[in-house]
Amino acid sequence: MNPKDRIDFLIKEIKKHNRLYYKEAAPSISDQDYDLLMLELKDWEQKFPQYRQADSPTQIVGNDLDSESKSIAHLQPMYSLDNIFSVDGVISFWKNLGCPKLTMEPKFDGFSVNIFYENGHLQYATTRGNGKQGENISANLKMIDALPWQIEPLQKMEVRGEVYMPKQEFERLLAQGYSFANPRNAAVGAIKLEDSKEANNRHLQASFYALGYTDGLSVGSQEEVLRFLEEQKFKVSSLSQCAHLEQEIRDYCAKLDNLRGNLGFEIDGIVFKVNDFELQKKLGFTSKYPKWAMAYKFPAEEQVSQLLDIEYNVGRTGAVTPVAILQPVRISGSTVSRATLHNFAFLRSLKLHLGDEVILIKSGEIIPKIIGIKKPTENGKEIVLPQVCPVCGTELKQGKFIVSCPNENCPARSLRKIEHFVSKSALDIVGLGPKQIKLLSDNGMLTKIEDIYNLDYEKVLLLERQAEQSVQNLADSVQVSKSKPFAKVLYGLGISGVGEQIAEVLVSEFTSLEKLQVASEEELRAIADIGPVLAENIVAYFTNQENIRTIDALRKAGLNFIGDDKEKKTGVLVGKTFLITGKLSKYKRQELKDILLGAGGKVLSAVSSKLDYLVVGDAPGSKLEKAKKLGSVQIVEEDEIVQMLGENLDKKYMKQNSDDR
Ligand code: IVH
Repeated sequence: MNPKDRIDFLIKEIKKHNRLYYKEAAPSISDQDYDLLMLELKDWEQKFPQYRQADSPTQIVGNDLDSESKSIAHLQPMYSLDNIFSVDGVISFWKNLGCPKLTMEPKFDGFSVNIFYENGHLQYATTRGNGKQGENISANLKMIDALPWQIEPLQKMEVRGEVYMPKQEFERLLAQGYSFANPRNAAVGAIKLEDSKEANNRHLQASFYALGYTDGLSVGSQEEVLRFLEEQKFKVSSLSQCAHLEQEIRDYCAKLDNLRGNLGFEIDGIVFKVNDFELQKKLGFTSKYPKWAMAYKFPAEEQVSQLLDIEYNVGRTGAVTPVAILQPVRISGSTVSRATLHNFAFLRSLKLHLGDEVILIKSGEIIPKIIGIKKPTENGKEIVLPQVCPVCGTELKQGKFIVSCPNENCPARSLRKIEHFVSKSALDIVGLGPKQIKLLSDNGMLTKIEDIYNLDYEKVLLLERQAEQSVQNLADSVQVSKSKPFAKVLYGLGISGVGEQIAEVLVSEFTSLEKLQVASEEELRAIADIGPVLAENIVAYFTNQENIRTIDALRKAGLNFIGDDKEKKTGVLVGKTFLITGKLSKYKRQELKDILLGAGGKVLSAVSSKLDYLVVGDAPGSKLEKAKKLGSVQIVEEDEIVQMLGENLDKKYMKQNSDDR
């Protein structure tokens, strides 16, 4: 595996999950799987520091900010915690620090808040946001009775803690028909409600464990902080404890792991903190974590269930995913009856038989997964992997990991394609969730993407569960989608391998669908971000008659197949690729990037044969060596770029400077 590609992939993947988790409060993978991605990324970055990116998720605190406008800056930044997954790991963390006295606290599975008091009065409360500024959630937070509105007067003070939803409340909401992946999501959803009365009805709780900025309060240890908070009538966990000895640490881990199922709220681990503030200060922070604290994450909860059947789902690109159908079983507050088996290779490796007792994990209560067999059943029916598509009967294409249905017109693929086309990151058509798509498809109204633009809304209204307002919203949203940028449409078409970023690249390179449609594999491969497989996929997509029909129909419906004028490249650097390395003196890195892009150039992320110019600053590192080795790359300094751009650049900057004044 190419380390750079893997790192790029992991960064993209983790960022996507960060967005789902923080911004949309709708994570699609379990915490455990997220942690695994993060661990893998850290590992690669350690082995190949030359590929580390400044904005890697390992370097930056996650972001839950919804809109910058409602945000308030923290007086002191809010950090995240580094994770460890074994008790032995905790012990070595402690030993490496010289075995100091620790405080041990439950790690609440909610979201953190910062509450600001001035002269004893609660002024506002914010989420962690991006660590520097958070979203104002004062109105709803005040509804929680775990915190005082008034404290002993101090000039200024920030108090930090975790807001969570008790399990019982979560169950109550589920019973009422709400659907949340887990209590944490439900808590985030509740705090963001517009209606504070409704937020109050969600019975959130909170527990407090830290101070941010304080004016004139002298506390010397974490123990003292907890005591102070308690005195001021903040809710503080009664499970917090101190440890001096290895055995105390081990006992506490065992105690909380045992207790966790019986607590009224979710905890996903333990937070260990150096107790003494002097020592904390000496240890300091990385860009993301305090070096004086560590979160121990519990292993995922395991359950045993019986394998009843295997179902095969066909995805948009034709990939067939096996799904285990299980005897329903409760894991951490919800019932599981299906679990993904990822792909055929994974399914084969498990050597399952129908009837087997299997071990399931479900951390973060999101996607349950089978990790092995507990007890094989006697004479269990062997699982025969399908040779033909379970939906359309076409012979499946057997890859090493991925088995797929090659039929572009397979009805299952068509539905998935529609789901993708209307998704938020594509054409963002509201009112067309998977259930609605299925309903319309079952009634023969929606079998291909282009049918979206020929819906007869009068007829839709006659179907079951259709409200006039939501059908109207759908119609409006379909109309709005016609003015979405070409890149969104291109991404929405669902060409295998063409994600949001590649769609942008294609639009800026080809500017219109007409040109893209006739591009050859060679032309496509010449683009920095496009490899041979992707080039082949793109050409194959545009040679399929069914796809051509879809495109023609969408064009007739008025969708956008031309890039904005601003996307059309002009300038002296058109066709040239650049990479910047080392510390620049004249410009900030982003500034220079913008300048290059503005002049029509392209900025790559790694040295490759597609690179024309390497711009070197101070201490350039391995990229320079690599570029020299290649021999085809021109090595230039900042000033030379300025010369290349000549007058244009100076003028532009002079203008900016005068605007500044
Ligand atoms: S201390 C500088 N203590 O876990 C250290 N955090 O994964 C700041 N959390 O962002 C955090 N329980 O939202 C701390 N007892 C506890 C906690 C706790 C839950 C959350 C908090 C933090 C996240 C890091």
